[in-house]
Amino acid sequence: MNKDLLDVYGELGQEIQEILISEEALRSRVRELGRAISQDYAGRNPLMIGVLKGVLCFMADLLRAITIPVEVDFMAVSSYSPEARDQGVVRLMKDLESPLFGRHVLFVEDIIDTGLTLNYLLKTFRAREPASLEVCVLFDKPKHRLIDIPVKYRGFELPDRFVVGYGLDYRERYRNLPFVALLKPDVFLENRKG
Ligand code: PRP
Repeated sequence: MNKDLLDVYGELGQEIQEILISEEALRSRVRELGRAISQDYAGRNPLMIGVLKGVLCFMADLLRAITIPVEVDFMAVSSYSPEARDQGVVRLMKDLESPLFGRHVLFVEDIIDTGLTLNYLLKTFRAREPASLEVCVLFDKPKHRLIDIPVKYRGFELPDRFVVGYGLDYRERYRNLPFVALLKPDVFLENRKG
């Protein structure tokens, strides 16, 4: 059945080694997260914040699984240099439009690996004095965690493998796959532009 599914994706499908999390499993887990958030934040008009671009599929589906009034905002970041990235320091390419002061803020991330990016962003958010600040992460890769981040909502724990799909990319490809997958090893060896 997976083969038929991969055939639909043509050249992208041919580069997939294995589907790790199916579209159905993603949908069902995201619905559960949406239900929990709707209960916990009822009457609080939360502000959901996402960092582009990896979070786009998760945020779109999570929003539609939430049944209470919410607001959403996005930011974009970029690394100054590999060294700066190692310390989690990122440059804001697009800041939030909404003030955080006094708001119930839910920070939504696609993936947490070392925790450095999230740690840095949470610090900058705390300085803006929200009423509360919690984290919702779809994919948790605990193996390389350098900083302990309190995560209130967690979708899946992932093995220590490079995954693509459902917003996650390799050189900007594969974000549009509706499942999470491993790439064939030779894909990494090809000298792709991008
Ligand atoms: C991913 C993800 C986090 C970061 C997590 O972004 O969205 O921001 O990596 O890694 P860390 O826990 O080791 O800091 P990425 O740089 O892949 O950018 P993208 O979302 O635009 O694909």
